[in-house]
Amino acid sequence: MERFRVAGGARLAGEVTVTGAKNSVLKVMAACLLAEGTSTLRNVPDIGDVPIMAEVLRGLGAEVTDAVPEVRVTVPAALGYEADYEHVRRIRGSICVLGPLLARCGRARVALPGGDAIGSRALDLHVSGLQKLGAAFESEHGYLVASAPKLRGEQIWLDFPSVGATENIVMAAVLAHGTTLLDNAAREPEIVDLCEMLVAMGARIGGIGTSTLEIGGVDELGPTTHDTVPDRIVAGTFAIGAVMTLGDVSVRGARAEHLRLPLDKLVQAGADVEELPDGFRVSMDRRPTAVDVVTLPYPGFPTDLQPLAIGLASISEGAAFVTENIFEGRFMFIDELVRLGADVRTDGHHAVVRGRERLSGAPVRATDIRAGAGLVLAGLVAEGVTEVSDVFHVDRGYEGFIEQLRALGADVTRVAADDLLG
Ligand code: UD1
Repeated sequence: MERFRVAGGARLAGEVTVTGAKNSVLKVMAACLLAEGTSTLRNVPDIGDVPIMAEVLRGLGAEVTDAVPEVRVTVPAALGYEADYEHVRRIRGSICVLGPLLARCGRARVALPGGDAIGSRALDLHVSGLQKLGAAFESEHGYLVASAPKLRGEQIWLDFPSVGATENIVMAAVLAHGTTLLDNAAREPEIVDLCEMLVAMGARIGGIGTSTLEIGGVDELGPTTHDTVPDRIVAGTFAIGAVMTLGDVSVRGARAEHLRLPLDKLVQAGADVEELPDGFRVSMDRRPTAVDVVTLPYPGFPTDLQPLAIGLASISEGAAFVTENIFEGRFMFIDELVRLGADVRTDGHHAVVRGRERLSGAPVRATDIRAGAGLVLAGLVAEGVTEVSDVFHVDRGYEGFIEQLRALGADVTRVAADDLLG
């Protein structure tokens, strides 16, 4: 079990380059299943989730190359239809093979992912949407078993703009007979990325980037080459890190238009944000002012940046009111932040964060990917040394996080469990 040792006090300054989005790459990998032949994915991040998803695809009969940032996925005419528990429980995102398998094989057997540290993640919207398209579902021995000899286009209204349900429904509808109208669809940049790839494969999708998608089913799709959209959450992490450390960071390879609200929050906190041709620059020269945050589906404030926003508020001047509307378990990391001296009180899905002048280093545990990143940033502004354990979470979603922070001037190292401070 490795840990990150973070020495407080350094200022982040310089340039960092962001690669493809974790929240997109797993889905575009699954989309490759929709066409026989070899698709090429570019800008694939070197993160822990990618080889696991590659294993899921291999288990279905695809060949997947290992080297990033360019991954080739070769899909046979006859595809397997079972994604087993060993893989699905490690990355919940692998549930997105459900739609492509139903579309290609007319059936799917996909393990139920179970709960995780940020709360239960229901699948009812995935299931009811696919049922509308004609799939029949059973649950047996921990698996979701679906069959649909023929999928038919339908009108679907989602109760909530679920990212995962939108992805599964779209990937099934592209090969359905007739037109699907999907209303209250998610419109995250990662959904746009997936839809653009599907269109390049021959799919007919209207309304991309809006909450109403019109999908005209086609008989077959062909392989394609696709550039994964930049990771807005990693970009936002470095932006928040720059503000917390009173730094000056240029985030390259990022798209400011995917982070309008988070960047505006940083401006409200007192930062300078300048757009660059290939990203943005964030600089800060004084103690941040506390800003309130409410997480909502895109273009609302992303739930994935909430732990980092709480970290920022914990050293800001004044009090911030933070509301988490997407995942009920996403405040779990707060107990760890409190170990660093943060003053946070929660009530249900609301948190009040009273800014402290300083935090103080301590051993803490990463409870999920973003909580881990948030604790590392908090460690950067804490007095003394912070050791963050369970960093495998961070490795799942951040490519070379420690190396990138070091390049920006942070005093951060990866240490083995038997090489710890007393
Ligand atoms: C979510 C985020 C996404 C982020 C990803 C990784 C939102 C809306 N989604 O996507 O931006 O990239 O985590 O951290 O912010 N739900 C149901 N029934 C369903 C599906 C979902 O009740 O069938 C609920 C979930 O329990 C959750 C909410 O809807 O409370 C959001 O779920 P969803 O968008 O599907 O989650 P992810 O696809 O994991």
